[in-house]
Amino acid sequence: MTVDSTAPSQPAIENLLAERRTFPPDPAFTAQANAKASLYEEADRDFEAFWARIARERVDWTKPFEQTLDWQLPFAKWFIGGTLNISENCVDRHVKQGLGHKVAYHWIGEPGDTRTITYADLLREVQKAANALKELGVKTGDRVAIYMPMIPELPVAMLACARLGAAHTVVFGGFSAEALAGRINDAEAKVLITADGGWRRGKATPLKPAADEAIANAPTIEHVLVVQRLGDAAETSMTEGRDVWWHDIVGRQPETCSPVPVDSEHLLYLLYTSGTTAKPKGIVHTTAGYLVGTSFTHEMIFDVKPDDVYWCAADIGWVTGHSYIVYGPLANATTGVLYEGTPDTPAWDRWWQIVEQYKVSILYCAPTAIRAFMKQGEEHPAKHDLSSLRVLGSVGEPINPEAWLWYQQNIGGGKTPVVDTWWQTETGMILITPLPGVTTTKPGSATFPFPGIEADVVDNEGRSVPLGGGGYLVLKRPWPAMLRGIYGDPERYQETYWSRFPGMYFAGDGAKRDEEGYFWLLGRVDDVMNVAGHRISTIEVESALVDHKKVAESAVVGKNDPLTGQAIFAFVILKAGVEPSDGLGIELREHVAKVISPIARPKFLMFTPDLPKTRSGKIMRRLLRDIAEGRTLGDTTTLADAGVVDAIRERSGAAEE
Ligand code: WT7
Repeated sequence: MTVDSTAPSQPAIENLLAERRTFPPDPAFTAQANAKASLYEEADRDFEAFWARIARERVDWTKPFEQTLDWQLPFAKWFIGGTLNISENCVDRHVKQGLGHKVAYHWIGEPGDTRTITYADLLREVQKAANALKELGVKTGDRVAIYMPMIPELPVAMLACARLGAAHTVVFGGFSAEALAGRINDAEAKVLITADGGWRRGKATPLKPAADEAIANAPTIEHVLVVQRLGDAAETSMTEGRDVWWHDIVGRQPETCSPVPVDSEHLLYLLYTSGTTAKPKGIVHTTAGYLVGTSFTHEMIFDVKPDDVYWCAADIGWVTGHSYIVYGPLANATTGVLYEGTPDTPAWDRWWQIVEQYKVSILYCAPTAIRAFMKQGEEHPAKHDLSSLRVLGSVGEPINPEAWLWYQQNIGGGKTPVVDTWWQTETGMILITPLPGVTTTKPGSATFPFPGIEADVVDNEGRSVPLGGGGYLVLKRPWPAMLRGIYGDPERYQETYWSRFPGMYFAGDGAKRDEEGYFWLLGRVDDVMNVAGHRISTIEVESALVDHKKVAESAVVGKNDPLTGQAIFAFVILKAGVEPSDGLGIELREHVAKVISPIARPKFLMFTPDLPKTRSGKIMRRLLRDIAEGRTLGDTTTLADAGVVDAIRERSGAAEE
């Protein structure tokens, strides 16, 4: 692994670190805050006892756990001996406590249609959907793939699986048929839940054709459950005996379905994420620890109270949506907003209109969105009353101090705490974050590890770097929502996360701590790019390019981008006899979009006669990044043929779209 390959450029980091303003908590906020400074002390005294207390308080157990943690490095088991059902914890118990009338989701469709789903509605729909899955042959221990737009049936489907003890694997609706097939096959999913399509930027966007294409190469799928979202706006073909409409089969089910109690460590879901190879990893999350970690962090970090209206603007297809739209918030009986559309449709004030209309009090989104809003100008949020907002969150990529300040001032009215939350698909829950009402924040810093979490910054040899220095972010203690492995590949789990620094979890991120111990996340240090908060592997894009019949070789790097954090820059060597052309450039970029997803489509593509390689034949990505960003080149002494760099640079003027 090349450790420096996609680290952000020096000017960006300097800019980040030069920011020195601090924001102490407002005493009025502190007085009412859920989080208390004493949590850190409690967790430091005995972190197992700390998590055990939280697990006892927050979870309705069908059988209490006997042991808090079994840590056979790197394999963790939490809350051993306990049994529970997570759908019961997210829905039934709230209804039993008289909260059936409380809104679980205010759903807003892109064309403006809306639905209000109370906890009583959710309980009924989850039970009916679970009965339908049973009728389709789903049993405890099976896997179910879900490929859906942002509609209420998506969380219902996830909870219905969990009610039966079947694991879900949600595949983001923007992924290609090929990506979907790969995930279904790895998970050996029995049923696929999808929709005829969804609305995207004013257009009906079919999903079922991609689902059909995927299933043609995914033999484990026995049935397809299809939600009708587009209706007449799409032509949907159904395969007799295999495909069933959701409204037909779910519609006629009995309204009760007993939750299946499962072991604490029972597989809850798989979520595929890009690593440093072409094959995405199925990240394994289990039941009890995940419920404890997501619900507790949600309540503390967002200061969620019974009357709040909470909006996490991510897609449920990513871990942010799993943990902080579905499981964490529902476990806390939160009222949430679920929005199908994009920030720019029908206009750039759509989000602010939603905040005003629904009196959203907590907003959680990605720096990419904030930077896009900044670019559009203050006048869009200024048109709306945003005074209901009291906590703002950021996630997915480093937030530059300018964006942090713009967010706090223009969206938060200069008064709300901003929580910059660092975590990953693998961590399951937020791990580095301020606690609102407790932490003095610095724009651009995710501040400190959450209570009970031990994070460190280490050098190449795994030695802790003194305050003021930078290195690799590691975690030194297990935490309840941590991944339990990579599906079907324990060796890769060990190798990817636990072998770089023995005994420590290697996050793949660079970090620096300032003199006061604040953590500043500096971006990925491996072959993973972060494009608009989406994690994409350079190698995945390279193999999609090489998969095209005219391409001989390719190298992909992340180029700094003012809007999306990084943008994909592809260097391509064509096969002998193939002539480069603008048309071919477009064709290749489309090819990547088709093979992986439009989010992986290279923004820049350059044809090159050769690639810079070390004498051992490794592509020098650092050098390519320098070329992509137009910087003067660093040390090239390990380069096999220095002439290659000149050849590439001469052509780089023609690279941009
Ligand atoms: C990678 C994980 C966590 C949900 C969304 C992304 C980057 C995430 C931050 C942050 C700086 C961040 C890291 C991390 N990242 N949050 N607050 N500051 N970087 O999940 O797709 O698994 O990506 O996102 O590089 O490793 P993911």
